[in-house]
Amino acid sequence: MEQYAIKGGNPLVGEVEIGGAKNAALAILAAAAMTDETVTIENVPDLRDTMAMLQAMESIGIRVEKLDRHTIKINAGTINDLIIEDDSIKKIRASYYFLGALLGKYKKAEVALPGGCNIGLRPIDQHIKGFRALGADVRIEHGLIITEAKRLVGSHIYLDVVTVGATINIMMAAAMAEGQTIIENAAKEPHVVDVANFLNSMGASIKGAGTDVIRIKGVQKLHGTEYAIIPDQIEAGTFMFAAAVTRGDVTVKNVIPKHLESISAKLIEIGCEVEESDDAVRVVAAKPLTHTHVKTLPYPGFPTDMQPQITVALGLSKGTSIVTESIFENRFKYVDELTRMGANIKVESNTAIIDGVPKYTGASLTAPDLRAGAALVTAALAAEGISTIDDIKFIERGYEDFPQKLQSLGAQIEKVCTERELQKFRLKIG
Ligand code: UD1
Repeated sequence: MEQYAIKGGNPLVGEVEIGGAKNAALAILAAAAMTDETVTIENVPDLRDTMAMLQAMESIGIRVEKLDRHTIKINAGTINDLIIEDDSIKKIRASYYFLGALLGKYKKAEVALPGGCNIGLRPIDQHIKGFRALGADVRIEHGLIITEAKRLVGSHIYLDVVTVGATINIMMAAAMAEGQTIIENAAKEPHVVDVANFLNSMGASIKGAGTDVIRIKGVQKLHGTEYAIIPDQIEAGTFMFAAAVTRGDVTVKNVIPKHLESISAKLIEIGCEVEESDDAVRVVAAKPLTHTHVKTLPYPGFPTDMQPQITVALGLSKGTSIVTESIFENRFKYVDELTRMGANIKVESNTAIIDGVPKYTGASLTAPDLRAGAALVTAALAAEGISTIDDIKFIERGYEDFPQKLQSLGAQIEKVCTERELQKFRLKIG
């Protein structure tokens, strides 16, 4: 039994440092396998998912050295296998990045089919379409995706949907293909740009990342580099919404405010004050929250990974709000948990209709996935009384030191492992 025990009701107040972006780190770690030279990556978040990625890299002979908690030195010159089927990798979505990285460098890769959060069907047809357009053969056998090519040759690829994963994967493979590749309808997320910058720092030639047309001139060889990962937009956004729901005053530090614009805009709409400086954003929730409508969209739209967090806030906002999920079809599973806390939310297909209630009350909750789990923590921090949250392994996939960071803002939250520890928490907080 590992759970978070939370006593709600304290406004979160203070400053919190945001770590490196999980989704950029996962791709960049895989891309580090594309050179025989040493790569040093800073600002790598210390998370279950990044650890799983590193473990998988070690399982094929890549040398991984932790210089400190967030700085990793990688040398893939010692790679001795192109089959990745380590148990821990099967649980994470980003395992698919080894396909693009190893296909680019070695023209062959075999990787266990990706896992990750159960938030709906998560096809990889666009990744496969891209690899095939570059001349690779792709097949699925015995739970592995196998891709190989005699030669990879640049191509003109139109993505049918805007997908972060396929954009990055194709970009990695194309970085070492012969000639020019153009990806149209590419994803524009900050981590797409970060991966492109990382590859360029290794000698790749990628232009246009951050727009919907990316042009890649293949190179024969990539070299070593030192690189720092961008801050995590979603970790920052989660703390910003935690400030809103607890009616607090929180400054998220070490962020790129531009990446948070869609999140800041919604917070302002629901009645918060948002102050931006060079590398920090302060959210003050002094007034009662009010309703709004939101639809998740690819960047620069409102991120699907912030959908549960905004729903928690709108559940406490005066009036009726509508949240439309346009990226993943099964991303409202946490609403049942919120209902048990007193929320008034009706889900119809990909839309949640939310009638704001004045308060939530504590309950025994289960995290259904990573972001919904974090959102339930924020709901519990706002609620009257005590909540417990099970299945926190999901939350630990994407939030480093989550309870400690929240405690530093005045939250009453503890990770407990036994019934006895839970009792102790109850006694301590009175
Ligand atoms: C990544 C993120 C995830 C985030 C999502 C959208 C990682 C490890 N995960 O997931 O946190 O919620 O981006 O920002 O970085 N699609 C296809 N075919 C494909 C690929 C995707 O139809 O081949 C569809 C998906 O079903 C989804 C949409 O495209 O509806 C976007 O998916 P994508 O951006 O690829 O998400 P992931 O890479 O799975």
